[in-house]
Amino acid sequence: MKLALLGCGTVGSEVVRLMHDKADDLAARIGERMEIAGVAVRRPGRDRSHLPIDPNLFTTDALGLVKRPDVDIVVEVAGGIEPARTWITTALSEGKAVVTANKALLAADGASLNAAAVAGDADLYYEAAVAGAIPLLRPLRDSLHGDSIDRVLGIVNGTTNFICTQMTQTGASFGEALAEAGELGYAEADPSADIDGYDAAAKAAIIASLAFHTKVELSEVYREGITDVTAADVAAAAEQGCVVKPLCIATREPDGVSVRVHPAMIDKAHPLASVNGAYNAVFVEAEAAGSLMFYGAGAGGTATASAVLGDIVAVARHRRGGVTAFRPEAAWGDLPVKSIGE
Ligand code: NDP
Ligand code: HSE
Repeated sequence: MKLALLGCGTVGSEVVRLMHDKADDLAARIGERMEIAGVAVRRPGRDRSHLPIDPNLFTTDALGLVKRPDVDIVVEVAGGIEPARTWITTALSEGKAVVTANKALLAADGASLNAAAVAGDADLYYEAAVAGAIPLLRPLRDSLHGDSIDRVLGIVNGTTNFICTQMTQTGASFGEALAEAGELGYAEADPSADIDGYDAAAKAAIIASLAFHTKVELSEVYREGITDVTAADVAAAAEQGCVVKPLCIATREPDGVSVRVHPAMIDKAHPLASVNGAYNAVFVEAEAAGSLMFYGAGAGGTATASAVLGDIVAVARHRRGGVTAFRPEAAWGDLPVKSIGE
């Protein structure tokens, strides 16, 4: 099976590395080997010699790569609205499965992508688009589909949580903490998407749409960024036994759904108060299931690539017709099980 990788930055380069390092495991789980047919980038001259991949596979012709007849799966980790939308809709309308981490595009124009997926009878998976490595979207769209979700509350942006954490714990300034988040690969290419709340709002729209089975537009999400949070605010919160956190709150109300993202003071005893750094946490309150908590790395190349790889395996298995028939024991390896206590 062949895969086109669109983007080889923070996330894409980790997808390349993990696909190389885990090639045998992936082959066992999918049932055949997965090959990277090409990697689209903007700057082909950039040094990528540290990556375990043939340098001849890099191209600037992303659309040409998408359209190659031997490509089965397209993985979009470039970001932005265009040309990503054209690449993805082209792939889907040609019946190719797409895996994307592009929450900005999904929130801005998920309808076009979904229409193309339906028209092409193709898979569109995007677990990495929300909350990095945390398996959240598939539980929302699969496991909890028989239940009724009342509220989703959480921290869904790693960069702003990292900034709030650094300001609280180390006394770093807003600017210092933002620069560090960029260096660590957490921030978006344009970090104003993080600090002005657009990234969290996009994720909130995706979460609320899946949780409440209704299309929530980005423009319908109330949004406040964290740029107005000062060191004095952080200190005042601490004096009151609180911390400042960037929250996402989506609620089913009698007359509809309300979705908002904004910084808020929360009591230090609240579980979200101890979610620090670029970690995310999401509480889902469902009628029958009760309260569920999802927690883990919300940003960063390696963690996000884990979610991308999970989606690649899922769509690849589906392509082979093996989703419902998949038996984990068919892919068991020979890893020994250790005896405990001898
Ligand atoms: P980067 O900016 O690090 O990488 C983007 C990559 O896409 C680069 O390789 C760039 O090429 C390539 N690219 C951009 N535009 C084009 C174009 N027009 N044609 C061809 N290639 C292009 O971004 P990230 O890896 O951080 O993010 C990628 C996506 O994943 C985004 O949608 C982001 O929102 C999402 N995401 C990111 C997470 C993170 O923690 N970083 C977590 C979850 C999702 P070149 O290398 O030549 O510049
Ligand atoms: N910039 C995003 C964040 C990346 O900080 O959460 C993960 O989606």
